[in-house]
Amino acid sequence: MVWLIGNKGMLGAEISLVLAQRGLACIGTDREVDITDPDALAAFVGKQAAAGQTIDWIINCAAYTAVDKAEDDLDACRRLNAIGPANIAEASHNIGARVLHFSTDYVFDGRGERPYKEDDPTDPIGVYGITKRDGEEKLLSNNEASYIIRTAWLYGRHGNNFVHTMLRLMNEKDSVSVVNDQRGSPTWAYDLASTAVDIIGKTLPYGIYHYTNEGSITWFDFAQEIYGQGRKLGLIRKDCEVKPCASAEFPAKVTRPAYSVLDKGKIKAALGIEIPEWQTSLERYLKSGAP
Ligand SMILES: NC(=O)c1ccc[n+]([C@@H]2O[C@H](COP(=O)([O-])OP(=O)(O)OC[C@H]3O[C@@H](n4cnc5c(N)ncnc54)[C@H](OP(=O)(O)O)[C@@H]3O)[C@@H](O)[C@H]2O)c1
Repeated sequence: MVWLIGNKGMLGAEISLVLAQRGLACIGTDREVDITDPDALAAFVGKQAAAGQTIDWIINCAAYTAVDKAEDDLDACRRLNAIGPANIAEASHNIGARVLHFSTDYVFDGRGERPYKEDDPTDPIGVYGITKRDGEEKLLSNNEASYIIRTAWLYGRHGNNFVHTMLRLMNEKDSVSVVNDQRGSPTWAYDLASTAVDIIGKTLPYGIYHYTNEGSITWFDFAQEIYGQGRKLGLIRKDCEVKPCASAEFPAKVTRPAYSVLDKGKIKAALGIEIPEWQTSLERYLKSGAP
């Protein structure tokens, strides 16, 4: 059985759906089983064992994801992103379960000029990235039977994300300004969830893998495509001008990585998969009726 932690978040909800679609047994928890508390994890595992349930896999989608807020909330962010994975490593190791965990492009400094590979040196620039990098290290050193998928620029049915924000603003305003100096790959959480679940049942080497949709664009490019597709599908009901601007026009507590593109060659070769282009996935998402 799979224990899906963080099942109410954006990615967790999609993984829950994919597990159900594939008929895989799963039990999901969110805040009610607090990953920062090792006793809570042990108690949950004990309860499942007493009920005759064997947990073979733990998928962890719980994380502290508020990148700016994290700068003033270091302790909470560290507990969730670094101590949490350490606790999960210990709980899974005790029962011989494998772990699938998620990390981020923010472990890199964003000064790269070609897609980041899994073994490129990390150098995070903010609290979120530092704690996620620490979480990777703690998980891998405490349960070697672990997979970590680094991803970026996620959107999906649940929670706040760029696609939802753009659709709302474009229906409200005559123009929106969107940064044109950060490059990355928009990623539909459902595509990532499908690939994550592909790993279950396969005998891939443990370790770190990168996954995003294909493509390398700026947030401005993404907004333009959302506008074009949104207008065509009737999700945006009026004209709105999409204007490019510089990150400096939107001061934030943390500098966003200028370059976030991840090299996906390793996961494609390991699973023998093709990854959808970002425009194709955006279209599937917008046509799914979710937004
Ligand atoms: N979103 C992105 O663009 C993005 C990009 C790169 C990597 N990632 C990574 O992808 C993974 C999933 O991200 P996401 O966007 O799906 O996150 P999310 O929507 O913020 O979901 C996280 C879930 O964990 C829950 N949670 C919070 N504290 C918890 C605790 N102590 N114990 C158990 N559960 C707790 C949250 O509950 P509350 O909502 O009540 O806090 C929420 O339901 C994370 O590892 C993230 O770092 C995300």
